Amino acid sequence: MALLEVKGLQKDFGGATAVAGVDLALEAGEFVGLIGPNGSGKTTLFNLLSGVMKPTKGEIHFDGQRIDGWPPDRIFHAGLVRTFQVPRLFRNMTTLENMLLPPEGQLGESPWHALWPKRWRAQELQLAEKARAVLETFKLDHAALQGTTELSGGQMKLLEAARSLMGKAKLLLFDEPAAGVAPALARRVFDQLRRMQRETGMTLLVIEHRLDVLFEYVDYVIVMDRGRIIARGKPAEVARDPRVIEAYFGGTSVGEAG
Ligand SMILES: Nc1ncnc2c1ncn2[C@@H]1O[C@H](COP(=O)(O)OP(=O)(O)OP(=O)(O)O)[C@@H](O)[C@H]1O
Ligand SMILES: [Mg+2]
Repeated sequence: MALLEVKGLQKDFGGATAVAGVDLALEAGEFVGLIGPNGSGKTTLFNLLSGVMKPTKGEIHFDGQRIDGWPPDRIFHAGLVRTFQVPRLFRNMTTLENMLLPPEGQLGESPWHALWPKRWRAQELQLAEKARAVLETFKLDHAALQGTTELSGGQMKLLEAARSLMGKAKLLLFDEPAAGVAPALARRVFDQLRRMQRETGMTLLVIEHRLDVLFEYVDYVIVMDRGRIIARGKPAEVARDPRVIEAYFGGTSVGEAG
């Protein structure tokens, strides 16, 4: 069975349908891009998968269990981890402290004691070591002891991505990891994601508008438009798919308008 299997997933907001009957299966170890024009339902799909929103109808199966209706922290602990389009950081804490907590909205209780140095045991020290290593890769190690309010927008995005690599995720959902990040750093983020994915065998589903960067890394791409999946394939195939070109640009090719 696939790691993630979604059947007939739908989300209505009043009269508007943001996700309109999505069927989707992801196998373990895949690196998948999720693209589509603004407002096509990508973030809403993430909200449904991570339990932040309840579906109007449909089913979500993850790692052999049916998880729709579960609270976000239970889904997080089952190994489904997501990041937010606008980073959600704990603003009165340091970069390092943020690394030691799961994302807001997926918070359980247990990690809090990691913030109390006196109670740190070997495991927590290992976590702190891992946090430092990940921060170094993301070039955030110099900011480890700074408050997050001192970080730039791009650095916050990097921290959000770095933090999601701390847990034991089986499936990571990234909402625009490269948005607002300088091109060289964006590739660094994706390099790091790919490295972590190869080391751990985790599955990645990444929303990204920077198609030039995304297409270098993913195994294949899923395209949404108006709440539906309209195409799925290798980046090069998808980029010349008339339905995708129409959805994005109403005519010009993906390359020209990118
Ligand atoms: N909480 C909400 N209440 C009402 N409508 C919403 C809500 N969240 C999203 N929508 C609507 O659902 C549709 C899909 O939005 P969503 O944020 O999922 O798009 P997206 O593909 O992530 O877009 P973008 O690329 O701009 O981030 C939009 O029409 C949006 O206005
Ligand atoms: Mg979005």
